[in-house]
Amino acid sequence: MARKTAILISGRGSNMAALLDAAKAPGYPAEIVLVASNRPGAAGLGIAAGHGISTRAIDHTAYETREDFETALTAELEKAGAELVCLAGFMRLLTDGFVKHWRDKLINIHPSLLPAFKGMDTHARALAAGVKITGCSVHFVREEMDSGPIIAQAAVPVLAGDDEAALAARVLDAEHALYPMALALVASGRARVVGEKVMVEENSPPDYRPLISPPSAG
Ligand code: GAR
Repeated sequence: MARKTAILISGRGSNMAALLDAAKAPGYPAEIVLVASNRPGAAGLGIAAGHGISTRAIDHTAYETREDFETALTAELEKAGAELVCLAGFMRLLTDGFVKHWRDKLINIHPSLLPAFKGMDTHARALAAGVKITGCSVHFVREEMDSGPIIAQAAVPVLAGDDEAALAARVLDAEHALYPMALALVASGRARVVGEKVMVEENSPPDYRPLISPPSAG
């Protein structure tokens, strides 16, 4: 049985769209039952509706406290029967209470190779630091921002001449490939939290090839 999964967004929803597309494949282990946004104007809500998915706008500015907003959010998630919740560009800090309630069921994608570059402006900071490889991470959410057991990561090179937009686009491409794979690992039960690390059952021995950047260094 596919695990019922909700997606929380705040904006354009390109990762959400990648998850919706992946979930259409026969045998995909997650079924997307709801897309909710804290911003009523989020472009992703229209995209989700176009896919025939139930959507909700839960405007955080209409609530006095974070807790009140999250109580409304959890009520919608539970009404939809969500067993897993994917944050996909959801730009609202969550309280410890919400994170505890959804422990090991709440997943986030972040545009860096965690634990490097937590927080905002990851690509500008990667460029400023001069790293030659960056990427994205999918992880279970814990109380501290952008922390928690890492489910999967994808690496991309930083190329000479990259500006923030070029690097963001390269990482975003990797995000769209990574998130559906990571959700499938969790939803199928092949990725499990053991001692605050994620153990992944591999079907076959992985074929590792190093990503060397710049390639002429290899
Ligand atoms: C993505 O790059 C995602 O990794 C990032 O916001 C973007 C949302 O784009 N998330 C964070 O920075 C969370 N800390 P999208 O709405 O097109 O998926």
